[in-house]
Amino acid sequence: NLGVAITGSGSAVPATSLHNQTLSELVETSDEWIATRTGIRQRRLALPSESLSVLATAASSQAIAASGIKAEDLDLILLATSTPDDLFGSACQVQAKLGATNAVAFDLTAACSGFVFGLVTAAQYIRTGVYKNVLLIGADILSRWVDWEDRRTCVLFGDGAGAVVLQADKSDRLLGFALKSDGTQNHHLNLAYAGASQELLPDVNITKGTYQPITMNGKEVYRFAVQKVPEIIDKALFQANISVEQIDWLILHQANQRIIDAVAQRLNIPEHKVISNLAQYGNTSAASIPLALDEAVRQGKIKPNDIVATSGFGAGLTWGAAIFQW
Ligand code: ACO
Repeated sequence: NLGVAITGSGSAVPATSLHNQTLSELVETSDEWIATRTGIRQRRLALPSESLSVLATAASSQAIAASGIKAEDLDLILLATSTPDDLFGSACQVQAKLGATNAVAFDLTAACSGFVFGLVTAAQYIRTGVYKNVLLIGADILSRWVDWEDRRTCVLFGDGAGAVVLQADKSDRLLGFALKSDGTQNHHLNLAYAGASQELLPDVNITKGTYQPITMNGKEVYRFAVQKVPEIIDKALFQANISVEQIDWLILHQANQRIIDAVAQRLNIPEHKVISNLAQYGNTSAASIPLALDEAVRQGKIKPNDIVATSGFGAGLTWGAAIFQW
């Protein structure tokens, strides 16, 4: 079997930021409530002129440059997103924008777990020798899908994109992973289809497609995350034959600082090893892990050979963990 290595990262966020203070002019909330309950201070918002594929392409260009390959060298582009520009998928638009003429491109949907699910998917193609150079993007524009009158959800989310290049390598740097899904808990977090019935012909009704804004049972999602994330990281560590003490960095999906703190505490991982940027960006869904990873790499925190434990969790419900060496 061939090994897998992450050889470059990149990220991009919209320029427009929305601070909690400004948000409190829209809905009945406060900077104090949001910051103490979630750790979020501000989030970036994509303007109507911006698009998912443009953000994803900007992050990807950085990741490709960092890895030292060219766009034409890519064999596969995986775009983890729940908010494509086009319901048929946006990966091909990214392929065209990058000029990645040799790459197969498709979308992958696993909500906030999308990046970890994508990492494992990309690794399978490389390990089986099918592809050598894979671009994995996590990107979401959830601001287009929240109800801006619902203070329980609109304060949480932000827009962004992150990307990594994975390459075949002699040494395997994806040390372990574990993935899980539980559709019986699906109703806790949805961006649900909401078609209106339309009479096409007498006796033949169809539904006209649309989606209702995000609905979430915050308490249930919180409980789920705090219980399942430490379990799945433990499972991935066991598979990797790595002890908790050997972890250099913990990068969780950036949903809530309280979830991050509780998971780190349960795993006995000290604060200085925990990466967090949700104060600036909020919950950027599939983008949150690669965005935090890329920032930590560019800040010089994550260094070659460091061991990174990462976990995504969210709608589905889905959750997963991956342990890799940088
Ligand atoms: N500002 C002020 N008050 C608010 C706000 C707000 N933005 N939102 C809710 N409240 C009020 C509620 O109306 C409620 O008031 P009431 O008691 O008078 O009814 C009170 O605050 C408490 O509400 P809860 O929902 O019980 O608040 P909780 O302490 O559970 O915090 C939160 C809510 C922050 C959403 C928390 O449950 C949480 O973080 N859950 C996890 C959510 C999450 O991580 N989701 C994303 C993961 S998956 C993905 O990324 C797609």
